[in-house]
Amino acid sequence: MVMRRSSSDLKFLSEMEKSLLSLFMTCMALFIILLTLSRRLKLKKRKISAGGVRPAQLPRGSLGWPFIGETLEFISCAYSPRPESFMDKRRLLYGKVFKSHIFGSPTIVSTDAEVSRVVLQSDAKAFVPSYPKSLTELMGKSSILLINGGLHRRVHGLIGAFFKSPLLKSQITTDMHKYVKDLMSGWQDNQLIFIQDETKHIVFHILVRVLIGLEPGEEMQFLKHNFQEFIAGLMSLPVKLPGSRLYKSLQAKKKMVMLVEKIIKEKRKNMNNSSDDDQKAPRDVIDVLLNDNSLKDDLISDNMIDLMIPGEDSVPILVTLAIKYLSDCPLALHQLENENIQLKEKKSKQGESTTLNWTDYLSLQFTQDVITETLRLGNIISGILRMAMKDMEIKGHFIPKGWCVFTYFRSVHLDETLYEDPHQFNPWRWKDKDMNSCGFTAFGGGQRLCPGLDLARLEASIFLHHLVTNFTWVAEEDQVVNFPTVRMKRRMPIRVKRKVAT
Ligand code: HEM
Ligand SMILES: *[C@@H]1O[C@H](CO)[C@@H](O)[C@H](O)[C@H]1NC(C)=O
Ligand SMILES: *[C@@H]1O[C@H](CO)[C@@H](O)[C@H](O)[C@H]1NC(C)=O
Ligand SMILES: *[C@@H]1O[C@H](CO)[C@@H](O)[C@H](O)[C@H]1NC(C)=O
Ligand SMILES: *[C@@H]1O[C@H](CO)[C@@H](O)[C@H](O)[C@H]1NC(C)=O
Repeated sequence: MVMRRSSSDLKFLSEMEKSLLSLFMTCMALFIILLTLSRRLKLKKRKISAGGVRPAQLPRGSLGWPFIGETLEFISCAYSPRPESFMDKRRLLYGKVFKSHIFGSPTIVSTDAEVSRVVLQSDAKAFVPSYPKSLTELMGKSSILLINGGLHRRVHGLIGAFFKSPLLKSQITTDMHKYVKDLMSGWQDNQLIFIQDETKHIVFHILVRVLIGLEPGEEMQFLKHNFQEFIAGLMSLPVKLPGSRLYKSLQAKKKMVMLVEKIIKEKRKNMNNSSDDDQKAPRDVIDVLLNDNSLKDDLISDNMIDLMIPGEDSVPILVTLAIKYLSDCPLALHQLENENIQLKEKKSKQGESTTLNWTDYLSLQFTQDVITETLRLGNIISGILRMAMKDMEIKGHFIPKGWCVFTYFRSVHLDETLYEDPHQFNPWRWKDKDMNSCGFTAFGGGQRLCPGLDLARLEASIFLHHLVTNFTWVAEEDQVVNFPTVRMKRRMPIRVKRKVAT
């Protein structure tokens, strides 16, 4: 039986968890104070010219304590099963858009679909991405996640077009087939499988192949090891002294960048030698960026590592959550299974090869709805942070220059005026529904819309297909943790059993 934590407060936590939490909170408090000091607050108190009429008002809300603002309360909610309770409380008091002070900066929080949409659609003259200092230290100045304007549009466009190309999708489908088969052939009946670990393994291989063209092997292991070291520092104190977490992460990144530089050099050599004049079809993101001719090698190599950040964890968690929700909803699992088996049978009846291609996977409507619903309910990226580059007014709300805006997708995705019974996993709600009409922004939007969204869906569909067509399983009890990143507390253990071939 699964015990659900039904309330947003912490009274169900064990003593052990409580003491861990308080330790964690103390660390966070320290972290935030350092963060605040290190930012050295460029923010000046803005004076409004005495005679000027300003119709738009700064949203209501509280800035909380000096320095730490409302961060501790935000984090204690984020850590609970209902992270949106921080927002819910303030929505009742101040409305859907309110001011607060979190992560070392005065911030306008938007839980309003329309306001968030405007923020996402704005360009770099209005809003730029804002990340914690430890993250920007690790990513470097030319990271696609941080650059703006023309260079950003070029890099984003090149990567996005490549990720959409049919050639890449069929390559990914082939690779995914191979990896999934290798993996699942090793599963014994009644074996306990930790889905979160297994999916991470596969997805990392796919990602590295897509980005730098590397096959599994020694160099892949080297990358994997150093990448773990690297991301351990993403949420660390912004201190760069030898021995510190951030320092170790930077060292790990250096090692990875050296490997990528070596690969770039080899590619440049071979490019020079290719007989045909027209450029060959790119096989990985390095090829794509090299073909552009105007991008420097160090921008390319830095970005290859930075691109692993949004791609590495999100897809495994998407698959893991889908399996969690399906395990709790037999009706949906049954329908998903039928849809997948039917397609397989249809293909074999038509005498075609029974291996599905990428268009087959993306044409499975219910499977896609399951993925969409998982994204809505799971909120893998709960929201994004932007900083205002000038005074802005959105829907009557005043946003001062230098303030952050936190567009909190989770509150929109769980808004009962937009989704009936929002906490229920209900993939049928997407039947004939337009994703763009209801504030669904799991992949962001505007100029920074996630370029990896098709790949994420494709990879998730392929994994689910092979799991449901070849196995039945019983899920062990586990629960979703939402902070600092979404994941399963016990890494989603399931006991699998191979279906008897009919
Ligand atoms: C379930 C999986 C995924 C989710 C939920 C997701 C979500 C998002 C979101 C919300 C953004 C917008 C960030 C912003 O506006 O600042 C984003 C951006 C991005 N995503 Fe994903 N993503 C996923 C998978 C992937 C994959 C597989 C890749 C492949 C490498 C990827 C690469 C990127 C990149 C490069 C950006 C930055 C785009 C830019 O700033 O121009 N994502 N993603
Ligand atoms: C699933 O079963 C089919 C036969 O029914 C087999 O051809 C295929 O390789 C299996 N896939 C995996 C991932 O085990
Ligand atoms: C590429 O070939 C040209 C001559 O065709 C040569 O001048 C250049 O040095 C070569 N570059 C590399 C990296 O080998
Ligand atoms: C380029 O091609 C020639 C033969 O056409 C070969 O002798 C040479 O080794 C190649 N160079 C590289 C760097 O691959
Ligand atoms: C995939 O297979 C279907 C038949 O099941 C076919 O109609 C379609 O053109 C194929 N797509 C690709 C990209 O090969």
